[in-house]
Amino acid sequence: MTPPHLQIAIDGPAGSGKTTVARRLADRLSLLYLDTGAMYRALAVLSLRERVDADNEPALLRLLEVRPIDVRLDPRSPMGFTVLAGGEALAEADLQANAASVVVSTIAAHPKIRERMVAKQRRIAELGPVIMAGRDIGTVVLPDAQVKVFLTASIGARVQRRREQFARSGTAIDAHALYTELEERDRLDESRANSPLQIPPDAHVIDSSDLGIDDVVSKIAALASAAA
Ligand code: DC
Repeated sequence: MTPPHLQIAIDGPAGSGKTTVARRLADRLSLLYLDTGAMYRALAVLSLRERVDADNEPALLRLLEVRPIDVRLDPRSPMGFTVLAGGEALAEADLQANAASVVVSTIAAHPKIRERMVAKQRRIAELGPVIMAGRDIGTVVLPDAQVKVFLTASIGARVQRRREQFARSGTAIDAHALYTELEERDRLDESRANSPLQIPPDAHVIDSSDLGIDDVVSKIAALASAAA
């Protein structure tokens, strides 16, 4: 069924440029914007703080009950939205920290955790025209989205982008360690039983290895205007 307002789904592996592109496009087209990875990262941050094992789904679900994860959409905030855990806004630096990256794919593989996150993401999409970035947006969260994009890039380009991201926040990070982390996350995200990262059959595949952000944004904006 066609959604009542425009939905743009952007999926792809870590470092493919999804969040930067999605946010810029949201600004350009005045759409609501959410990077769903931040919700899984919020639970990763909580699990590290509370020393809950990333493999322990029942304990993670209890943690979610005590400290529910919510999202407030706000284009003027640093990330374009705020993630709250039990009412506390989490800092971007904590969400993006390497410690959270290392456990987040294990946490995101649990089916009941995903069910809860997906339900919240769908409620957000009901608020108005939206662009959502993640791994399962076109396949599971918004399967009827009018525009679906699978954004990809070579692992070399993705490592370079993540390094630049860390450098901007003043953190030096070893390229080899990043390479290993991205490969391991790709493996976990692609091989999990529940909602694995895969190309939706009706998606436009864009390889951003040799494209600038604005080129990718313009390509997707053209798809959106063709779909309107
Ligand atoms: O996009 P990111 O690197 O911030 O995402 C962090 C992790 O969250 C990623 O390794 C897989 C998971 N994720 C997911 O399973 N489904 C989504 N829709 C978004 C992220």
